[in-house]
Amino acid sequence: MKSFKKNILCIGAGYVGGPTMAVIALKCPEYRVMVVDINFEKIRRWNSDDLPIYEPGLAEVVAATRGKNLFFSTEIAKAIDEADIIFVSVNTPTKTFGHGAGMASDLQYWEQTAFQIIEHSRTDKIIVEKSTLPVKTAQAMERILQANDKGLRFEVVSNPEFLSEGTAVKDLLEADRVLVGAHETPSGRQAAEEIAEIYSHWLAKEKIITTNLWSSELSKLVANAFLAQRISSINSMTPLCELTGARIDEIAYAVGTDSRIGGKFLQASVGFGGSCFKKDILNLVYICRSFHLHETADYWEQVVKLNDYQIGRFVRAMVQNLFNTVANKRIALFGFAFKANTGDTRESAAIYVARKLLEERALVVISDPKALDNARIDLADHQERIVFEEDPYLAAQNAQAIALLTEWELYRGLDYRKIFQSMKKPAFIFDGRNLLNHSELYEIGFNVFPIGKPALSHLD
Ligand code: UDX
Ligand code: UDX
Repeated sequence: MKSFKKNILCIGAGYVGGPTMAVIALKCPEYRVMVVDINFEKIRRWNSDDLPIYEPGLAEVVAATRGKNLFFSTEIAKAIDEADIIFVSVNTPTKTFGHGAGMASDLQYWEQTAFQIIEHSRTDKIIVEKSTLPVKTAQAMERILQANDKGLRFEVVSNPEFLSEGTAVKDLLEADRVLVGAHETPSGRQAAEEIAEIYSHWLAKEKIITTNLWSSELSKLVANAFLAQRISSINSMTPLCELTGARIDEIAYAVGTDSRIGGKFLQASVGFGGSCFKKDILNLVYICRSFHLHETADYWEQVVKLNDYQIGRFVRAMVQNLFNTVANKRIALFGFAFKANTGDTRESAAIYVARKLLEERALVVISDPKALDNARIDLADHQERIVFEEDPYLAAQNAQAIALLTEWELYRGLDYRKIFQSMKKPAFIFDGRNLLNHSELYEIGFNVFPIGKPALSHLD
């Protein structure tokens, strides 16, 4: 076997672990990068042409590195033994049971992983927290790791991931910054340097920020909380706009051109989704409460509450405008992924919208270019009254209404005249992303309901 300068291991071949390691392998050809997972099927797919996740550019990076210095395996014990640096990116979902249910992070996978590391290690290692973890988790993990009776030293470093789905490869290659948090001790500093050195293969030194361990852990939660807060802030203004005649996109532009505020993350929507925002904020709220910081906790909890309100408001408006009943009406959902350019549906607003419509006995046709497999799993308990149809033209046929839920570019370019002709009249479009040309749709004959703008209806 070719000898490598260093052996890097990542435990957890998910949305974070897979792309991050592929990019490290691409940029650090002298390192061997191994990715392991307990899920055999996932590893089988990472080793095939049918990768388990869709990310633009990812297949190319994997093709260039797999079998050379990037490897996917289920042999966790062997991989731990061989590794110098272990990134841990197993999932840390919100707890569904016991104390802190619905709020705190479920750290059982992290803890199991720590025990596995102790069991299979024969040399000292750097352990990198890649998963988003509550502040002070490193301390707990360290206690578990240091309690090993083999005399081994494990230096715990926090290196949170800021990549966004759909642009993961680009975000990794052109990161705004990389954060490395370590103990302020000589061994901590040395470990931080080793991790920084990996990223310095492709990122300028100024982009690699080193902090203490706790700042790094907390920065990740704060970054996600701030991003989500911007969306809830703009969404909070949408009902007011709909009632007054103000237009949310004009407001977002007017406000966002103030360089102190900035224009990003001000796109009003049906509500944010994804595996991180809600989970991380609830986690932050839980931590604050555990320190009796209820004012801080309430402040951030409101970001999630506002988001739930926005999603609920969207479906209520649909039912109301469809003459207060959707029973047996065919409704096409354009998009099911939590955002464009990903097949991921975790916490997608579309799940909630679909479930509400099904409760109201609608016939729901779900269309999405990448997320139908996940949609089938999310709605597995609802076999009846759902049709999955990738082709948006077929999805809309005979439908009374379309609800656009994911901002896929392809929906902008459809022939809406043709779609209108194939639909039941009066035909409705509820644009949960303000993606479409509303006046054009109105001219065609649709009754159009955007987010945060007055409706364009032929029925008034
Ligand atoms: C996960 C966390 O959800 C997130 O909080 C963190 O920031 C990064 O890691 P993600 O990569 O999106 O994010 O999760 P997921 O796609 O579910 O991947 C986690 C992988 O870990 C799964 O493939 C799972 O099979 C694997 N895993 C889990 C293990 O290999 N071992 C375990 O003990 C548990
Ligand atoms: C987020 C963070 O951006 C990333 O830094 C972190 O590592 C993981 O969590 P992600 O969940 O992949 O990334 O997607 P993101 O682009 O942040 O979008 C999250 C949700 O907010 C999506 O549902 C998106 O549609 C929505 N959104 C985003 C809006 O509704 N309006 C906006 O202006 C931006």
